[in-house]
Amino acid sequence: MSKPKFYLTTPIYYPSDNLHIGHTYTTVAADSIKRFKSLQGYDVFFTTGSDEHGQKIQTKAKENEVGPKEYVDGIVANIKELWKMLEIDYDCFIRSTDEHHEKMVQKIFTKLYEKGEIYKSVYNGHYCTPCESFWTDAQLVDEDKCPDCGRPTHLEEEEAYFFKLSNYRDRLLKLYEDNPEFIQPESRKNEMINNFLKDGLEDLCVSRTTFDWGIKVPFDEKHVVYVWIDALSCYLSALGFDGEDGEKYKEFWPANVHLVGKEIVRFHTIIWPALLMALELPLPKKVFGHGWILFEDDKMSKSKGNVIYPEPIIELYGIDSFKYFLLREFTFGQDGSFSREKFLQRLNSDLANDLGNLVSRTVTMVEKYNEGIIPAPKTEEEVDASLRDLAITVADKVEAEMDKLNFSIALEEIWKLIRRTNKYVDETMPWVLAKEENKDRLDTVLYNLSESLRIVSILIKPFMEKTSDEIRRQLGIQVEANWQDAKVWNPDVANIVDNKVEKGNIIFPRLDVQKELVRLNEANQKLIDSRTNNSEKKEDKVEENKEVKEQEVIEEVEEITIDDFDKVKLKLAKVINCEDHPKADKLLVLTLKLGEETRTVVSGIKKYYSAEDLIGKKVVVVTNLKPVKLRGIESRGMVLAAEDDEGKLSLLTTLTELNDGASIS
Ligand code: MSP
Repeated sequence: MSKPKFYLTTPIYYPSDNLHIGHTYTTVAADSIKRFKSLQGYDVFFTTGSDEHGQKIQTKAKENEVGPKEYVDGIVANIKELWKMLEIDYDCFIRSTDEHHEKMVQKIFTKLYEKGEIYKSVYNGHYCTPCESFWTDAQLVDEDKCPDCGRPTHLEEEEAYFFKLSNYRDRLLKLYEDNPEFIQPESRKNEMINNFLKDGLEDLCVSRTTFDWGIKVPFDEKHVVYVWIDALSCYLSALGFDGEDGEKYKEFWPANVHLVGKEIVRFHTIIWPALLMALELPLPKKVFGHGWILFEDDKMSKSKGNVIYPEPIIELYGIDSFKYFLLREFTFGQDGSFSREKFLQRLNSDLANDLGNLVSRTVTMVEKYNEGIIPAPKTEEEVDASLRDLAITVADKVEAEMDKLNFSIALEEIWKLIRRTNKYVDETMPWVLAKEENKDRLDTVLYNLSESLRIVSILIKPFMEKTSDEIRRQLGIQVEANWQDAKVWNPDVANIVDNKVEKGNIIFPRLDVQKELVRLNEANQKLIDSRTNNSEKKEDKVEENKEVKEQEVIEEVEEITIDDFDKVKLKLAKVINCEDHPKADKLLVLTLKLGEETRTVVSGIKKYYSAEDLIGKKVVVVTNLKPVKLRGIESRGMVLAAEDDEGKLSLLTTLTELNDGASIS
């Protein structure tokens, strides 16, 4: 009999930067679903990949002075390396630049056009460049801000193709109603209905002419296909779909579940099903919108310098600890806060104290009291029945929780059994039984401990494969783990009586949290440093040298003539715009008006002023300083400030109001 099929996907990630712990979260979750379903007997296909087109990538590549493909190739190699390191068992890594994908997108775009689902018109709208999204008036927040990222949008007009999304509102509502499981968790469904569907949908602009790093519209090549159509249809091309058919497509489509972060639920539950309806293709069964991992309650971002990369954690503590922590610590549907302390504490409590301890005591006692051979059980008492009764019900509980993607509760159910088994040791006190030479009871206890651990080894397999294998090795189990065997106590096939146990290293040693915190921090920083590209490093060096030189000059206090002073050209300037430097924590980027002229000055005063503080203020600027690039932005001049003994800094201005551009001497 052929196995039932199961298709699951993660989003395809933007290779605009290296992936952090947040991206890893989705992929680890997907990996555990794949392993769980496979263990249950499903034939699973798991797709992940990279979303390589679009303006953002094109800009990023330009900044790095390479072509877009060359740029993404580098990052994609790192992503694949990370998945390898984590032993992510995906079946397809689809790149949106793969040729067969590009061809398929062109085919479906043409098909939609021919069916009248896509038409040509002119777009007039508020565009958010970072999000590559147009927004309607109703969707904007604070008059002109993007509802996704909060940044200002600008009006843009362009000839474009449109998808008749407005036709699909009622069908989408019906889809949600007929399939209550389609959007999970429930709260995200309400969000979609209230924020997007309630007031009707507008047609969707599905082509761009403002950049060219994308898939060309085959019948109108100055347009490239909107990135989300390109990206979403990767779920089909990953199955070899060619626009009509495909072998794996026939077997695995529709997807059983698309795992996505909460901010992209909209694309997956409105645009994606509408497109599939228009193409008359079957719809995915479920979209699960999970929460975000924050760093100590704050959004992770490179500019805040709080990005947590998974590599150092894995290198120091192994993949199982990391996977366990991600799935156990956070509730999948909600945001959660990462901290290194929490990670290390869980390692100590759940892995070293609970699981590690149980494995080591069980194997040690079988060695010590029965020459390393697992004995057959003899007399049974109430305490044995209570352990057994719990053990054989855990697999069902895990199934029920995994169906809802409650990884954290599924793991908690398994840990209840682990803790119960540890308690069983304290209750039965095998060392006393040995002393009393109560061989029958001792045999039963040793057997029950080993049997419970055998069940645990199956239950943890989808989440911690290496640990599961190691426990089974130590228990001398030769047969493959089989999910059904976790539901039976003392099964025929997986009988462990007479197995020879084999002690190994401690699977999770206890850690000194304070020491490890330092190690972890250092390792993360080292990785960040090694990833900071050379040009940035060079710029930093220039800045550092400049600072050192400035200090040297101050210390020497050299006398100058009026002619020397005259060489410095100073002017009064009005700050007409001010923004945080996108790539540096300490810098502000000021747009200054000096009479007729405007210029950009980058200044290291962010510690003392926020961008809003300065807009509209007049400042003194050195205008004839040689321009310098600071972290990629050219600074033409320097604003002057006074600094007191306590290091407090204040920008210079004039006592009375003067026009900008006034010269200073
Ligand atoms: N390329 C699109 C997805 C297209 S799918 C057809 C995209 N890429 S992304 O790289 O920006 O994000 C990919 C996924 O990572 C999203 O689901 C997003 O929610 C997730 N995460 C990014 N940061 C995250 C956290 N800090 N925590 C959890 N997940 C987060 O969107």
